[in-house]
Amino acid sequence: MRKKIVAGNWKMNTLPAEGIKLAKEVISKSGKVPGEVELIIIPPFTHLTEIAKLTSGTRVGVGTQNCAQWKSGAYTGEVSAAMIQALGAGYVIIGHSERREYFGETSTQLLEKIRIALEHQLTPIYCCGEKLIEREAGNHFAVVKQQIEESLFPLEANEMASVVIAYEPVWAIGTGKTATSDQAQEMHQHIRQLLIQRYGAELANEISILYGGSCKPSNAAEIFSKPDVDGGLIGGASLVADDFIAIAKSF
Ligand code: PGA
Repeated sequence: MRKKIVAGNWKMNTLPAEGIKLAKEVISKSGKVPGEVELIIIPPFTHLTEIAKLTSGTRVGVGTQNCAQWKSGAYTGEVSAAMIQALGAGYVIIGHSERREYFGETSTQLLEKIRIALEHQLTPIYCCGEKLIEREAGNHFAVVKQQIEESLFPLEANEMASVVIAYEPVWAIGTGKTATSDQAQEMHQHIRQLLIQRYGAELANEISILYGGSCKPSNAAEIFSKPDVDGGLIGGASLVADDFIAIAKSF
């Protein structure tokens, strides 16, 4: 059975004290969520040291929103996978659409980031998804296929087995406009089909595919009820502990 995962991407929000307070609240309320659901919080880098100490020994995992594609060296402003691992994080978001859009991250770079994350025992949460213009042109399946082919398919099966995928239609991120549960399901099924062709059904059926984009307590149950939706990557709603927990309880 593949894992059910609900991960909160805090993006560039909360000052350290606020983040610590939010993490404590999530940890203290995590008991309300069924045990089989993996809970992950993904704060800004600056909070990681403290939050990793808080989550250690609890059921809540912690990750980061990015990592460098290089091991170490003269890369001013970058944070390495080794540093993230050393602080106790277990996950790293790779290829969020905001990184692709504002920081020009390319498929090749993302593949390098995934590889270096895996080398440091971090689970990459690889994001893919089409823009509104691509959906309106009917190209959404082709766009996502290309993203998956370029950044994931060079991976060996044993590497792919440790990757989590998040389908996040760009037009649904932070807009309040969610994909319908049917739109989510058909894209998740498409992604799983691609994985079956490349890696075989056994592995493809073990890979968790999360939905992201304006997921909230009022729509999570409907989206999570679909057979190929294995959880959510939550932005805005993860900044309110009660909402994040309510979403995770929606399974
Ligand atoms: P949102 O963000 O839930 O605020 O739409 C999701 C994401 O970007 O991961």
